[in-house]
Amino acid sequence: METVLVLDFGAQYSQLIARRVRECRVYSDMIPYDTPVAEIAARKPRGLILSGGPASVYADDALELDPAIFELGIPVLGICYGMQVMAHSLGGEVTRTGKGEFGKTELNVTKEVVLFDDLPSTQTCWMSHRDSVTTPPDGFEITGTTESSPVAVMENTDRGLFGIQCHPEVVHTPYGTDILKNFLFEACECTPSWTVVSIIEDSVAAIREQVRDEKVICGLSGGVDSSTAALLVYRAVRDNLTCIFVDHGLLRKNEAGQVIDAFENHFHVPLIHIQAEERFIGKLAGVNEPEQKRKIIGEEFIRIFEEEARKLEGVRFLVQGTLYSDVIESGTRDAAKIKSHHNVGGLPEDMDLDLVEPLRHIFKDEVRNVAGELGLPDNMVWRQPFPGPGLAIRIIGEVTQERLEILREADFILQEEVRRAGLYRQLWQSFCVLPAIRSVGVMGDERTYAYPIIIRAVTSEDAMTADWARLPYDLLETISSRIINEVPGVNRVALDISSKPPSTIEWE
Ligand code: XMP
Repeated sequence: METVLVLDFGAQYSQLIARRVRECRVYSDMIPYDTPVAEIAARKPRGLILSGGPASVYADDALELDPAIFELGIPVLGICYGMQVMAHSLGGEVTRTGKGEFGKTELNVTKEVVLFDDLPSTQTCWMSHRDSVTTPPDGFEITGTTESSPVAVMENTDRGLFGIQCHPEVVHTPYGTDILKNFLFEACECTPSWTVVSIIEDSVAAIREQVRDEKVICGLSGGVDSSTAALLVYRAVRDNLTCIFVDHGLLRKNEAGQVIDAFENHFHVPLIHIQAEERFIGKLAGVNEPEQKRKIIGEEFIRIFEEEARKLEGVRFLVQGTLYSDVIESGTRDAAKIKSHHNVGGLPEDMDLDLVEPLRHIFKDEVRNVAGELGLPDNMVWRQPFPGPGLAIRIIGEVTQERLEILREADFILQEEVRRAGLYRQLWQSFCVLPAIRSVGVMGDERTYAYPIIIRAVTSEDAMTADWARLPYDLLETISSRIINEVPGVNRVALDISSKPPSTIEWE
C-alpha cells in the first residue's frame, strides 16, 4: 500500500492533512514528529509531510526535526511550521519579521515547478503564521510570494523537498487539494489507488495477520462502527468470530430489540446477548463525575467480554469499532485528553484480551463508505452515532432508573419528530440531555418543580468539530410541547446552541 506519512508537530490541522491525502486516494497516517527515522523508513513511505505547529523554531521548547529525514531520499513537503523547520534544519533563515499573516491572503506564484504546476499564478490561500522563511536553504528556489512573505513557497526538485507557508489542507485555500495532488502524484509519483475496496482488502489482510487461527469476540453495539468492524473481521476469520451485544441498561427506548433484529437479518455470525442492566446501574449508583462514569462503564464492558471469552475457551482477541476521533479525544502523547471514550481511555489497565481495531485510523464518513461497500443496509450505515456509555453521559449527575426513564421517553419523542421532519440524516446527532437541576412551572393550575430537557442537535463532518443545527422553529415547538405534555417529570425544554469547540457534542 502506497503511504504518505504526516509528521505531527502539534497543529490543529495535522489530522486534516492525512484526511485530505486519503481523499486524494493515497493512504495516509499521522505519526509523532519525533518518530525515529529508522521506524519511518521501515514503513517505506512514498513521501512525508511535515505539519504546522504552534511553536517558533527559535523557542526554547521548539519541536525539533531529525535532519536524517532529508537523507531518506523520499519527497518531503513542509507546511507552515513544517516549512520553517525544514528551512532551519537545512541552513536557511527563519525570521520573526513582525509581519505575521492570518486568514485569507493573496499568493503570487512566481514559477510553476511542481507544487503549482498547472495552477493559477495568482490565488487565495489561508495563512496562520508569525515567523517567516526569509532565505531558503541552498538548492531551493522561491516559487511563490505574498505581500508579507518573500518566501511563501520554496522548492528543491533535485532533492524532492518542498515548503509552503500557507495551509493547503483547509477549505479556505481553494487550490489546496490541487497543490497536495501535485506533491502526491508528481513529486511522490503515487497512484490514486486507495479506494474503499482497498481499505477492505488491506484491513482483512492485516486482521488475518494479527489474529491467525485464534478465536475472536466482537463487542457489537448496533452502530455503524462496531458493525463494520465485525463484518471486516468476519471476512478475515469467518467461524472464529462470535459477536457479543451487551445491554447495559443505558440504551434508548426499544433499542436492544432493534439491534438484535438488525443483527439477525444481516449477519451470519453467532450472537450472545448479555443483559447486564443491574450490573451497570449498580456500579453507577451515587456516581456523579463524568470521567468516573466513563471509566466504570469502560471497565464493566471489558470484564463482561473477559467472562464471555473464558466461557467460549481459547479466545484471545476483542474486536472494537474504535475510530480515530475516539483515539484523539481520549488523549495521545501530543494531544490533550478531552474525555475518556469508553473503548479507549476508559479501558482498564489489566486486560486479558488483545484488541483488534480495524477502524482506528479512519473517520466516521470513511467508515460509512466501507460499511456501504460491505453491504450494510442504509438505515445502519446512516444511524446517528450513539456513544458506548449511552444515556449515562447524557444524564448529568446520578444515573437512576427514574431519570433514565425520563430521558428515554423524551429522546424517543425527539427522534420521532426529527425523522418525521426528514432531518435525521442531515444531522450528525440529535438527542436529549437531562440536567441535574429542576425549575418551577405551572400545569393545570398546580405548581410543578421538575426537570428541564435540553435538546442537542449538531451538524458535523467527523465529530472533531461541530455546529449547532438550526432546527426549524415549528419542529422545536412540536418537540417541546410533546415532551412537556407526554413525559412526566419534565416541565421545560431548552435548546443547546453551542458549537464544538469550545463545547463538545455530548455534555459529559
Ligand atoms: P464529543 O462529546 O467528545 O463526542 O464531542 C464526539 C463523538 O464521539 C461520541 N462519543 C463516544 N463514542 N464512546 C463512544 O463510542 C464514548 O465514550 C464516546 N464519547 C463520545 C459522541 O457521541 C460524538 O459522536
